[in-house]
Amino acid sequence: MSASDLGRVSRGVSGTHPSAVIAGLGTCLPVTAIDNASLPDDLDTSDEWIRTRTGIRSRRRLTPELSVLDLACEAARNALRSAGTDTVGGLVFATTTPERPCPAAAPEIAYRIGQGRIPAFDIAAVCSGFLYALASAGALITAGITDSVLVVAAEAYSRVVDPTDRSTAVLFGDGAGAVVLRAGPADEPGALLAYDLGSDGEGADLIRIPGPREQPTGDRWFAMAGRKVYLQAIEQMAHSTLRVVKDCGWSPESLDLLVPHQANARIVEALTRRLGLPPERVACELARTGNTAAASIPLALAGALATHTLAPGARTALTAFGGGLSWASTALTWPQLTAVSSEL
Ligand code: UT7
Repeated sequence: MSASDLGRVSRGVSGTHPSAVIAGLGTCLPVTAIDNASLPDDLDTSDEWIRTRTGIRSRRRLTPELSVLDLACEAARNALRSAGTDTVGGLVFATTTPERPCPAAAPEIAYRIGQGRIPAFDIAAVCSGFLYALASAGALITAGITDSVLVVAAEAYSRVVDPTDRSTAVLFGDGAGAVVLRAGPADEPGALLAYDLGSDGEGADLIRIPGPREQPTGDRWFAMAGRKVYLQAIEQMAHSTLRVVKDCGWSPESLDLLVPHQANARIVEALTRRLGLPPERVACELARTGNTAAASIPLALAGALATHTLAPGARTALTAFGGGLSWASTALTWPQLTAVSSEL
């Protein structure tokens, strides 16, 4: 084991416990779209720079009267509709843009969508949050603690990004996605077959929102050392994807679809090349949504279903990298389901 592997968790799912199976997918985007040309003139940027350096053409923004919880609840309801169920046994919520630091938002989401007193907690793994939440929810099912879990990811980065900072303001958008996980056999389409999770706190300062005690000396806005993160994002997502693909007994070339975190189209392209996949076998939603942090993977899944890039039976790998630093991957054979999407 190399030093860089220490502490990393990677494993295939054994056949002795129930597996966690994706049974429904829901998304919700704010109705307000800000395209590159509509960004403020004094931001000192251009449509050409944003498109060629990031692949982003537009991003969604919450209106002031709505909160990230409204987005989360709507995506959660859509996932329940997609799964054809009214109830779940637990809820895990991934976000790093909550309305408040305390308490966790998951119990309120569970209450607002009529799930009563189920176990509910938040996960803050930034852009890897959805996959960390998926692994945690999968573990609750595999351990027999509950037989179904709603995994919800929602972000409102427009509330924490400095609107006058061109290095971040053009990149991020608001949005939400959710899946229903339920217990099922490992050979059922939709079963999560392997997980890989890792972190590197040495890079904790590279992506951050200052805490209250730090704010008097600095400012309160989100900050990212984009260039320093860029190469690590490609490196870690490539290695992490290879680990779950190997744990499934697959070869990387046999993947039908790779769904990476959506931060930058150049990162997505480099990762695709590293894994030896043709461009049509990678999901890319950046043009429409920008970087929606934890929500980006469920939104990209819904986008791939809408364009028929993703179909039942597809060998699918999901991979993410972000603040922490943190990374995560999982793999599955895509199930038969109809995603439910709406706008708010
Ligand atoms: O989601 C979690 C993980 N995050 C990521 O994976 C993000 C990884 N990083 C990236 O995607 C890219 O590094 C960015 C999109 C953030 C930046 O792209 P880049 O090609 O790395 O640009 P850069 O930061 O090296 O900046 C190049 C130039 C600079 O100007 P000078 O110093 O060369 O004169 C910047 O000031 O581009 C300038 N610049 C811009 N110019 C026009 C930075 N942002 C903008 C902008 N419009 N919006």
